[in-house]
Amino acid sequence: MTGQTAPAQPGAQISVDVPAKINPHLGVGDARADGYHALSTVYQAISLHDTVTAERRGEPGIEITISGEGAATLPTGEANLAHKAAKLIALYAGIEPDVKLHLTKRIPVAGGLAGGSADAAGALIACARLWEVEIGDAELERLAAGLGSDVPFCLKGGTAIGSGRGEELTPVAAKGTWHWVVATTDTQISTPECYKEVDRLREDGIGRYSSDVGPLVKAFEAGASADDLARLLINDMEAAAVSLRPQLASLMHGGLEEGALAAHVSGSGPTVLFLATDVKHAVALARRIRMRGGAKSVHLAHGPVNGPAA
Ligand code: C5P
Repeated sequence: MTGQTAPAQPGAQISVDVPAKINPHLGVGDARADGYHALSTVYQAISLHDTVTAERRGEPGIEITISGEGAATLPTGEANLAHKAAKLIALYAGIEPDVKLHLTKRIPVAGGLAGGSADAAGALIACARLWEVEIGDAELERLAAGLGSDVPFCLKGGTAIGSGRGEELTPVAAKGTWHWVVATTDTQISTPECYKEVDRLREDGIGRYSSDVGPLVKAFEAGASADDLARLLINDMEAAAVSLRPQLASLMHGGLEEGALAAHVSGSGPTVLFLATDVKHAVALARRIRMRGGAKSVHLAHGPVNGPAA
């Protein structure tokens, strides 16, 4: 594993920062035999991040505490993906898990920003370091893919093409930094629910598979302006997310009226991303979107940023 720190001394803490992801291109194909949908996506890690801290608890078991926005809504037991990640690393190493994990949440919860997957990626790395587990990058990625389709990308960060069900990654050398306003909403959309709505709309002849990531990848590699990027953003789940939560449409229109270059649903939603020209524009845009109301919280973010195992 790259980026490995010194083994943990007794009482030592390992801290790992893991960024949120966005999908500037999210092409959704048909459902496969295993129930997952074929994806053709471009991931980008952005500057909102969670911190996963691991320390030995001195007796067997996995204990999770969580702080930050939305912490009270998250499970601390086996249903937490970070718990599953810790268990998986222990199983891989053939050891009894012995860890206290603390998740500091800054990535909006259940927002289509892969917060849960980021915590799982952070737990994999933090536990591997804490327990001094010898594990190669490929094996770590395999374990990550078993936890969720977005988890391998959360390990890597930066910009990458995702294929398969999203877990097969090809890095993209993006030249530049792009600025976003991230607006969360009061509603929730479960990922499977949104995929089902995509299928339902397709049966009605609405929407098609945007499988070609080429133009967006070229734009990132060429360091395209935000104006050019705005024209290339695609999300095949957007119509489904708006169909499930129609209030997203007014949030998106509001941001565009306030001068955003583009409004883009993040993953399966319900968070909406607004593209800004530069950091100054993003600050002004965030203020205007906040004043307008309709969003639960409004954050500034830029990308790409590196992941914890980059
Ligand atoms: O991979 P992950 O556990 O994050 O996926 C959550 C759910 O989202 C899956 O159980 C599936 O219903 C849906 N999904 C999908 N196609 C994908 C990724 C996720 O249908 N490529």
